[in-house]
Amino acid sequence: MKVLITGGCGFIGSNLVRYCLERYSDWEIINLDLLTYAGNLENTEGLEDAYPGRYTLVKGDIADRVLVADLFDRYSIDLILNLAAESHVDRSIKDASAFMRTNVVGTQILLDAAIRHGTGRFVQISTDEVYGSLGKAGKFTEDLPLEPNSPYSASKASADLLVRAYIKTYGLDAIVTRCSNNYGPYQFPEKLIPLMVINAYNNKELPVYGDGRNVRDWIHVKDHCRGICMVALDGKPGEIYNMGGRAEKENIEIVRAILAYMGKDEGLIRFVKDRPGHDFRYAMDFSKIESQLGWRPEIDFEEGLRSTVDWYLGHKTWWEKIISGEYMRYYERMYGNR
Ligand code: NAD
Ligand code: TYD
Repeated sequence: MKVLITGGCGFIGSNLVRYCLERYSDWEIINLDLLTYAGNLENTEGLEDAYPGRYTLVKGDIADRVLVADLFDRYSIDLILNLAAESHVDRSIKDASAFMRTNVVGTQILLDAAIRHGTGRFVQISTDEVYGSLGKAGKFTEDLPLEPNSPYSASKASADLLVRAYIKTYGLDAIVTRCSNNYGPYQFPEKLIPLMVINAYNNKELPVYGDGRNVRDWIHVKDHCRGICMVALDGKPGEIYNMGGRAEKENIEIVRAILAYMGKDEGLIRFVKDRPGHDFRYAMDFSKIESQLGWRPEIDFEEGLRSTVDWYLGHKTWWEKIISGEYMRYYERMYGNR
């Protein structure tokens, strides 16, 4: 089976490419990635040699209609797993343009290609953030209205609606997955967990937004990858599947747990100006995928967090290269006057 994974050099994408190559020996993976600031060739290093003839990287833009058409002509693709996206809320608040182009137009171009080439199945990797924000109680279910609050989540919700329209209008075999906050190896250090680990290692302040009481439902990236593949193989066409980690944590709890594990002082914590429109709480009801496909998260959060901290501490050169370049200028712009 020929599987197109878009965004396969990013955090979840690179974990997914590796997972698929290991788990499904009859899958051939084509990874279409633009290699933006978040895409890193080192995330997929060695895969061509480890899996001869089964892994190909194509550098390119999902929003480039000509390139996408050419790629679909060259490879006869059976399954699309669309992960390519601009993914950071804070960047979307500074400038939403790239989010609209990649997350909305890029998805539309892939959907068009899937229709034209009769691709077997399209899986859109979406997020819990499309549902908006919860108060202290309740969980997101798949039938809730979409109420995105950031330009990022609005662009992801738009893509979800496009997928729905292509299912209804053209009969496309497509499925949407919506997952909660992922953590694990290869996450770009602008996101909460790697950022805090790296700052703590460097004895640099840990910037916690607002009072740190916002809640996210954390899932290990490997559990998410397993769920995506189960949906791709056994999900019902036209459905939406939530995934979550059953690990709701306040941000401050996570920051404290990281500091404690690393033997660092809580004096490093600095409460900074809150993110505008900061969603208070996300929590996933994933009973649908559990009952239909037998998926549930397996990696315990405390254990997963420790192994993730160990991974970053053991891969210093990976993140040192990132934080020495352009990312450092972003960091100054984001946190300099906060
Ligand atoms: P990421 O930012 O780490 O990686 C995104 C990848 O997409 C990068 O490799 C980048 O180069 C590539 N890309 C960006 N624009 C592109 C374009 N126009 N054409 C081709 N490639 C392009 O993101 P991530 O955290 O790995 O998220 C992957 C997907 O999962 C996204 O769609 C995101 O919305 C979704 N998601 C993420 C989370 C999370 O917690 N990280 C949770 C739920 C859903
Ligand atoms: P993030 O990793 O950006 O994911 P998302 O916004 O998609 O949930 O942020 C996770 C939580 O951590 C979110 O509530 C914002 C908060 N946060 C901080 O407090 N400080 C930071 O420096 C960052 C990046 C995030």
